[in-house]
Amino acid sequence: MRVVSGIQPTGNLHLGNYLGAIVQWVAMQDEHPGECLFFLADLHAITVRNDPAQLSANVRELTAALIASGIDPTRSILFNQTRVPQHSELAWLLMCTARMGWLNRMTQFKEKSGKDREGASIGLYAYPVLQAADVLLYQATHVPVGEDQKQHLELARDIATKFNLDTGTETFTLPEPMIGSTAPRVMSLRDGSAKMSKSDPSDMSRINLMDDADTIAQKIRKARTDADPLPEDPAALDGRPEAANLVTIYAALAGESRADVCARFAGQGFGAFKPALADLAVAKLGPIRERFAELMADTAAIDAILEEGAGRARAMAVPTLEATHAALGLFPASR
Ligand code: TYM
Repeated sequence: MRVVSGIQPTGNLHLGNYLGAIVQWVAMQDEHPGECLFFLADLHAITVRNDPAQLSANVRELTAALIASGIDPTRSILFNQTRVPQHSELAWLLMCTARMGWLNRMTQFKEKSGKDREGASIGLYAYPVLQAADVLLYQATHVPVGEDQKQHLELARDIATKFNLDTGTETFTLPEPMIGSTAPRVMSLRDGSAKMSKSDPSDMSRINLMDDADTIAQKIRKARTDADPLPEDPAALDGRPEAANLVTIYAALAGESRADVCARFAGQGFGAFKPALADLAVAKLGPIRERFAELMADTAAIDAILEEGAGRARAMAVPTLEATHAALGLFPASR
């Protein structure tokens, strides 16, 4: 059992990251202490334009936010990607296995490059290969992610399979994506067909983990919904994406099923449901925000955690990289 996952330090954590990924990270860490590696994907963040001062500040803040959310650096290995250069090196080696046709199918590249594909960086195009290196480097067996990362994980499996076949070795373990069962996909509060995202220009579309109680309540009050009451059966939420999203969020925060939530609120309108959801969100996120503020008062301690995590990750990365060199016949292979 080896659990590996990453998150881009491109701003605050939002509820989609938290419910889609971090809650699972914490659960995995509690079940498999010592076998989990979680990292800040700062090399992925530079595939699009970035403010350098902001980037390093984001790495530190996101580290504090992850710890505040329950990641315990004594049980998990927590680090930033840059400090483990084996990620970049393995990415290069895997670029020679990955096929253009495979990358051409990646939907995230199409979304992120938009109409200006010719002007996108090569890093943005090759981004999923670095992501494959991130997990294959540690022989990950399980990768807890949100639904939007599924395609990237399938690519990592394809790359691992082809590399092993081409070289006649078993250099890489095939990683299994673990998609959150309670909230695989948290949608925007303004548009039930778009995922909640850091890059949405409207801050009202997402709940940030560091939003204060009033902001959370206001965002939920203003969230788009419809005029119908909540149904008894969650299946009746089909075709009501905004309503379904709020029920999903409630269920995930409460650790209940959508059926439980519908049973409790059946027949009630959003006038009653939204305040209950706001209270729940504030109760769950408030303590995380407080702990974050405490942690940010001692940034040297955060930096030390990252440094220590990177040292442990490097030691775990070296054997895979050496096996990859040997499989490819890169000189000196027989040392
Ligand atoms: P990123 O930084 O966009 O998101 C981090 C994690 O949060 C999940 N997530 C969501 N889940 C549910 N609903 C949403 N609205 C939502 N938005 C984000 C993502 O699925 C992810 O699990 N490429 C990755 C980072 C990465 C990585 C890796 C992940 C780099 N290397 C290796 C796993 C393994 C990314 O951009 O995630």
